[in-house]
Amino acid sequence: MNGVTGRMGTRQHLARSIVAIRKQGGVALPGGETLMPDPILVGRNEKKLRTLAEAHGVGRWSTDLEGCLADPDTEIYFDSQTTTRRVEAVRQAIEAGKHVYCEKPTATSLDEALDLASLARERGVKHGVVQDKLFLPGLLKLRRLVDEGFFDRVLSVRGEFGYWVFEGEGRPSQRPSWNYRAEDGGGIIVDMLPHWRYVLDNLLGPIKALSCLGATHIPERRDEAGAPYEATADDAAYATFELEGGIVAHFNSSWCVRVNRDELFELQVDGTEGSAVAGLRDCKAQHRANTPKAVWNPDLPDTNDYRSQWFDIPQDDEPENAFKIQWEMFLKHVVADDPFPYDLLEGARGVQLAELGLQSWRERRWLDVPELEARPSREPERELGRA
Ligand SMILES: NC(=O)c1ccc[n+]([C@@H]2O[C@H](COP(=O)([O-])OP(=O)(O)OC[C@H]3O[C@@H](n4cnc5c(N)ncnc54)[C@H](O)[C@@H]3O)[C@@H](O)[C@H]2O)c1
Repeated sequence: MNGVTGRMGTRQHLARSIVAIRKQGGVALPGGETLMPDPILVGRNEKKLRTLAEAHGVGRWSTDLEGCLADPDTEIYFDSQTTTRRVEAVRQAIEAGKHVYCEKPTATSLDEALDLASLARERGVKHGVVQDKLFLPGLLKLRRLVDEGFFDRVLSVRGEFGYWVFEGEGRPSQRPSWNYRAEDGGGIIVDMLPHWRYVLDNLLGPIKALSCLGATHIPERRDEAGAPYEATADDAAYATFELEGGIVAHFNSSWCVRVNRDELFELQVDGTEGSAVAGLRDCKAQHRANTPKAVWNPDLPDTNDYRSQWFDIPQDDEPENAFKIQWEMFLKHVVADDPFPYDLLEGARGVQLAELGLQSWRERRWLDVPELEARPSREPERELGRA
């Protein structure tokens, strides 16, 4: 696990996924066996790694990535480093014959993202990309509504994502400073459009075209050491997507808004038979039959209490961490050949949308999103024996 001392690496991938899987006694496999992940924490700083390993009861850590990749007993390489370091390290792991699982975005250019996908295919390793939002309890409830035909014909979608990220003066910033420097792989378009790609593609249909306007609302911030730096990346993105079937989806993504919502991300879907608003955990819906008859009359107080006219979609089981659900799926994919559709080509689709979003902003115009095909392999596909 490389990049595990970072924000996502520590909280989501180590503590709430791998350590949680170990604590629950592993992952049950179809044949009755149990899989127990045995991670090596990899990074640059030995002291940090040791402290992290000890805090989580992990026995192995290393500052020698090459050495770990050369070890035939190590089967999977995981990467949650900062984005600009991903391609090189994942490529190195694939070339060493490891199965790879990594954070999004898989690269900062579509070309490199497609290269990684075709290299993994050529080498016959299994590969996966984090698409955590699909497994959030709120979005799983929304998926149930879609699957049950609750909406009938979906007309439009509105996504509202964001919160105020402090500039670092006085109150420290709650996100790493590289997020606000384009030269370090930062920017909300590169960060969030890959999420909106897989959310929309998987839940409501493929994205056909987009228009995106970015902004750098806060031009100067303070870094982790308190030093001022120029924010060279976008900190807000206002994007409209056209989906197959004419569905219009508009997403506001911003690190410069204050929250007046129930959750930090909300997705409203309006269909002919009903509407729903899904957040990270909750999802509420309103059916055609209990839709109030709203009448525009600003001269009188509105008698409708609109928020109370939605019903909650129930949570059947205890909600699981979204990252952990996907980790268990990937581990079963590697060991038991379970299907896992969230691969490096899917990851490249996210990078494609981000790249087109930046282009649309630059050129101030709508762009089509071409269908993305896997590049033909230079070598015939072959299955590597498990290391
Ligand atoms: N799935 C999600 O919802 C989600 C959310 C946030 C971030 N991310 C992605 O996760 C990745 C990490 O983001 P983060 O917020 O955890 O960042 P972070 O800055 O907190 O962590 C980055 C990690 O990379 C390591 N690193 C940085 N520079 C390095 C170098 N020169 N050599 C070796 N290691 C180096 C750091 O030590 C750290 O372990 C990013 O690619 C980001 O896009 C995903």
